Amino acid sequence: MGSDVVSRGYLATIVVPSGDQWKKMKRIMVDELFSHARHQWLHTKRVEEADNLLRYVHNQCGHEGGGGVVNLRVSAQHYCGNVIRKLVFNTRYFGNGKENGGPGVEEEDHVKAIFTILAYLYSFCISDYFPLLRGLDLDGHEKVMEEATRVLAKYHDPIIDERIQQWREGKKEEPEDLLDVLVSLKDDNGDSLLSADEIKAQIIDIMLAGVDNPSNALEWALAEMLNQPEILQKAIDELDSVVGKQRLVQESDLPKLNYIKACAREAFRLHPVAPFNVPHMSMADTTVANYFIPKGSHVFLSRLGLGRNPKVWDEPNKFKPERHLNGAKEVVLTDPKLRLLSFSRGRRGCIGMVLGTSMTIMLFARLLQGFSWSIPPNEGGRIDLSEGKGNLFMAKPLVAVAKPRLPPHVYPC
Ligand code: HEM
Repeated sequence: MGSDVVSRGYLATIVVPSGDQWKKMKRIMVDELFSHARHQWLHTKRVEEADNLLRYVHNQCGHEGGGGVVNLRVSAQHYCGNVIRKLVFNTRYFGNGKENGGPGVEEEDHVKAIFTILAYLYSFCISDYFPLLRGLDLDGHEKVMEEATRVLAKYHDPIIDERIQQWREGKKEEPEDLLDVLVSLKDDNGDSLLSADEIKAQIIDIMLAGVDNPSNALEWALAEMLNQPEILQKAIDELDSVVGKQRLVQESDLPKLNYIKACAREAFRLHPVAPFNVPHMSMADTTVANYFIPKGSHVFLSRLGLGRNPKVWDEPNKFKPERHLNGAKEVVLTDPKLRLLSFSRGRRGCIGMVLGTSMTIMLFARLLQGFSWSIPPNEGGRIDLSEGKGNLFMAKPLVAVAKPRLPPHVYPC
């Protein structure tokens, strides 16, 4: 990916990084924010948000726990937003939040801005190819991006500025979240390694990276499973045999939940969040298989072309988690052979793979363990699996009836 393509990437929403800046930020991401040790350090915060997800859905089941209609898109996006906000800012809410554990107006606004930026990140923009047109905003993208970035900045910047001040004044000495980690990094001279603008850009990058993939996978997978109840039952049977009903599923259980992981992997294969991977650019003439790719070409990997390739996948349009089980001791969400594109691979591959995997599987496992799901009576016995116009989300957000299936004392109060 070259610098001009980088400029369409997440970081460009505030600053366009130079090559050195990009390398520095990437190193910080890999070594400081998403290392194995850091993942362990942040465990309690992830558990708090998995518990809150359960509380939020449980609260929608009515006082007697008789069952309630739940919007899975809102629940899943809210959980992902919460996890990332908690890891970065040590808070679930920018405002007062809601007593039932759901999103307040601020969090709805925040997540909406994230999805707006992501939609435009992947879209064709004429000034990417004719930079002289920048500023004329012929397709209106710059205005939309500026507004969405302004929304993110409205919530992030006051927290970041205050935190920098606290560290400067010695009011903080021990890191408690990823923002503290970024603020407290020092260079060889003992000066701050990152400027305020760099921290703000890095945090937008993290916010954008973590929310869309897990929530979209959950929504599609559950919709497919509701239409094929035998798959739903197998996933529940697995949870009952690995975890039981007397305690909540924890991260330490996730490696054993192969069927659930196969369901998530199948959702990434069949229902990727976007048709293409983020754009890459060839830095030199190169040949891949039979294709000659001249230096400077923009390279788009088709997620749909890979995941639904009939030469690789039997019945490619069918949701069939079993296809990922054959012989695998432990199912993983990534595919090093790129037969499907989940986290991609190589130098540009996803840095947040471990976090992304645990968020995704926890989201699936908690919702499936905690509740019996059924199709709302007014849906005619089948969830409509149409894709949206101009995107790959479900055309209509998934709504399903949830009934608690664990003893009352197991749910977090
Ligand atoms: C299931 C969840 C996730 C999936 C499927 C996923 C997938 C991807 C993909 C496909 C890319 C582009 C790779 C390429 O250009 O070839 C990417 C990049 C990236 N992801 Fe993830 N991701 C997930 C979660 C996360 C999380 C939770 C974080 C961190 C908060 C994260 C951080 C990043 C970053 C920083 C990049 C940019 C890497 C670079 O350009 O060098 N991802 N991810």
